[in-house]
Amino acid sequence: MLKAPSIKTALPGPRAKKLIKLDKSYVSPSYTRVYPLVVDQAQGLWVHDVDGNIFLDFTAGIAVNATGHCHPHVVKAIQNQAEKLLHMSGTDFYYTPQIQLAEKIAALVPGKGRKRVYFGNSGAEAVEAAFKLARWHTKRELNIAFFGAFHGRTMGALSLTASKTVQKKHYNPLVPGITHIPYAYCYRCVYNLCYPDCELFCVRWVEDTLFRTTVPPEEVAAIFVEPIQGEGGYIVPPPGFHRKMYEIAKKYGILYVADEVQSGMGRTGKMFAMEHFETEADITAIAKGIASGMPLGAMVAPSDTMDWEAGSHASTFGGNPISCQAAMATIELLEKSLMKNATVQGDRLMTGLHELQKSYVCIGDVRGKGLMVGVEFVKDRETKAPATEWRPRIIRKAFEKGLLILGCGENSIRFCPALTVSAQEIDLSLSIFEEAVREVCS
Ligand SMILES: Cc1ncc(COP(=O)(O)O)c(C=O)c1O
Repeated sequence: MLKAPSIKTALPGPRAKKLIKLDKSYVSPSYTRVYPLVVDQAQGLWVHDVDGNIFLDFTAGIAVNATGHCHPHVVKAIQNQAEKLLHMSGTDFYYTPQIQLAEKIAALVPGKGRKRVYFGNSGAEAVEAAFKLARWHTKRELNIAFFGAFHGRTMGALSLTASKTVQKKHYNPLVPGITHIPYAYCYRCVYNLCYPDCELFCVRWVEDTLFRTTVPPEEVAAIFVEPIQGEGGYIVPPPGFHRKMYEIAKKYGILYVADEVQSGMGRTGKMFAMEHFETEADITAIAKGIASGMPLGAMVAPSDTMDWEAGSHASTFGGNPISCQAAMATIELLEKSLMKNATVQGDRLMTGLHELQKSYVCIGDVRGKGLMVGVEFVKDRETKAPATEWRPRIIRKAFEKGLLILGCGENSIRFCPALTVSAQEIDLSLSIFEEAVREVCS
């Protein structure tokens, strides 16, 4: 029988209200909750709140629950490991799950030759490790990153981030020597050009202008890039963007660092989004979907790049045995069927959204790969004026109707469900989303 959302109380319900009040007293006010969802339990794509309301989850805990909530295979792996060893610290001792996972990840990340893996607990830690390794290996001080990028909130990762000023306000001075440049956001090209006639001007500009005027390329350690920009708006760059940028990096001995924290682990239908662009990054940062919800981050590099010495970087909890086992179970499921499902259901979702775009002029752009899909809202298709105020209203309406979605960029909504999503769940999400769009934009 097809499941459906069930909203029995006003939102938030009475239990949720009480907990939110308590949260307001004790939990950090720096979090950005967009609607008052207080989760009790969840299975697959279905989330139950503390008042018994049931929601269809197209957020996957911000693209984390790759295998759905509480997948039995992942839960079993966690239970088995929990009975054997909770923690020992892989920085000072050896244990089997960390070694086996490193071997597996090294084989999965594109690129021939031997690779090694550094483990942390989050996306920011994976990026932070990449930042430090790039400096260590190249002995260079400068770095390049992109406007719209989100790489995390620790001081190094935050310095690379250029998403929203609120994330940086009052935290300066940050790590110096980082230059942000425009990403290939073709829907809103900053150079007012059109692909393919532009011949990737945004990439050529790096060599022709940036490297000739302000940034000496021989002092640049790395270019940090999201294969598909996530928090920035689910922006898919055009073919050739990464390839050409990578070639420029190689010409000057610069490392190309792919932040696959959101786009990796099968979400786009390939294990890593960079595979869509036929480019093998020098360093890859992974987190989010890697362990289906257990905290884990990984930074992967060729053995001759990961040449730092003992003591130069480490983390007490990184590569925790339970997280490693959850990751092994997650990878098994991804390889068995879920990556394929991401492609099939992602195509279904994109087709449905493109259909909606025909009826609703406020949908300016629909873009994505696999189950990393974004919808950008505009007030006018000609001027492309961002419909910034409509976005939160659409998200709120969807919540009230039992669909969980999240924003990205200034005026976009992202669809990043678990890779276990079924065709019926995709269709259901589309019909609820359409109702919400109709009520706000018509
Ligand atoms: C591309 C990317 N990099 C890094 C991060 C930071 O990850 P975390 O929040 O686990 O530190 C995020 C989080 O959204 C991300 O999307």
